[in-house]
Amino acid sequence: MRRLAILGSTGSIGTQTLDVIEKIEGLEIVAMSCGHNFSLFTKQLERYRPAFAASLSTEENPLALSSVKRFFHGEEGIEEMLESSRPDMVIVGVSGAAGLRFSLKAIEICKRLCLANKESIVCGGDLLIEGCKEKSVELIPVDSEHSGLFQLLGEGPRPDRIFITASGGALRDWSVERSIDATPGDVLKHPVWSMGRRITIDSATMVNKGLEVIEAHYLFRYDEEDIETYICRNSYIHAGIVYRDGVVKLHSGTPDMRIPIAYSLTYPFRERVIDRGGITGIPLLLEEIDGDKYPALELARNICGKQSKQIAYNAADEIAVEAFLRGEIKFGRIYNIIERTVSRIDDQRRADYRQILEIDKISREIALEEVSKCF
Ligand SMILES: NC(=O)c1ccc[n+]([C@@H]2O[C@H](COP(=O)([O-])OP(=O)(O)OC[C@H]3O[C@@H](n4cnc5c(N)ncnc54)[C@H](OP(=O)(O)O)[C@@H]3O)[C@@H](O)[C@H]2O)c1
Repeated sequence: MRRLAILGSTGSIGTQTLDVIEKIEGLEIVAMSCGHNFSLFTKQLERYRPAFAASLSTEENPLALSSVKRFFHGEEGIEEMLESSRPDMVIVGVSGAAGLRFSLKAIEICKRLCLANKESIVCGGDLLIEGCKEKSVELIPVDSEHSGLFQLLGEGPRPDRIFITASGGALRDWSVERSIDATPGDVLKHPVWSMGRRITIDSATMVNKGLEVIEAHYLFRYDEEDIETYICRNSYIHAGIVYRDGVVKLHSGTPDMRIPIAYSLTYPFRERVIDRGGITGIPLLLEEIDGDKYPALELARNICGKQSKQIAYNAADEIAVEAFLRGEIKFGRIYNIIERTVSRIDDQRRADYRQILEIDKISREIALEEVSKCF
């Protein structure tokens, strides 16, 4: 049995990971953590019975849970949980820059990091990637596009270009003018995927695709201009590679996150975790992305490789999305807040962990100031 820890078990990636684990054999959940959704977490602990567990908040009393040998609290507690449970694999399904800390701790302990938390790479830059190499830890991306590229980029000649796709988000058929006033209710209606709230908003601004271009740059060592992005409305094409002779290889399949999650856990083997569907009659169409409609994607391209700006881009987006969801700013303001925050952070190509935390903190302060100017 391989020992697995799931970080962020109460989220979209976390709950789908639990669903996958019910369908494949040979995995034992030894540790699980949540943020603040303790009522769901309690049900998960009762069902999956890990020996170690942790939550972000400090209030819960876990003594009622007889299966849990040790319960930890807070961010440090999540790290202690990893140390005590000694998993072979860790899936990081935590959202936001907070995930970097856990990814870095995980690679001190485990042999495989199944990484859904793209912010670990956007903010960590080479730190996490080099750490994995030094410690001989396998880094398997969970993002469907990067899982696709990971599967396409095997042996043989290196393709000239790679590409990833976007659905276009909930507002893809709205005009720019109309989108400015979209409500959280409008934007949270994703046309294809069911995901956490931030990533759903990020799909509509294409901040998510911007983060993914940066993620692909570090993971696969392509320059930003050789990482193309297209809209695939039904998300059946996740990614592709283009060779110098013009041959294009696509990674396509049912848009269901349980597939890349399972692949990250079972690699190099494959297990069936969704019903076998037909493959006829499914259009495989790529469309150009309208840069005027999605300026956040262009901004991400401009800062790709500049770690300090990447940290600012992510931090400002986290702050702006929260403000939007609280009804404090208009949808159209999210980009302005990110752009102004990024422009106020000095350009630094590489940062160590202490500097990452500092830049993240300053960026959040600037972004909050920019949010308050919108009132
Ligand atoms: N959802 C998808 O389909 C998808 C696809 C590709 C990549 N991703 C990436 O996967 C990550 C997770 O996305 P998601 O959609 O699953 O998010 P989500 O539904 O919001 O879930 C986030 C999880 O992390 C926990 N959490 C939040 N902040 C935390 C912190 N500071 N420390 C510890 N735990 C914390 C939450 O706990 P509580 O809910 O208990 O508070 C929850 O369990 C993101 O980086 C996202 O970009 C997601």
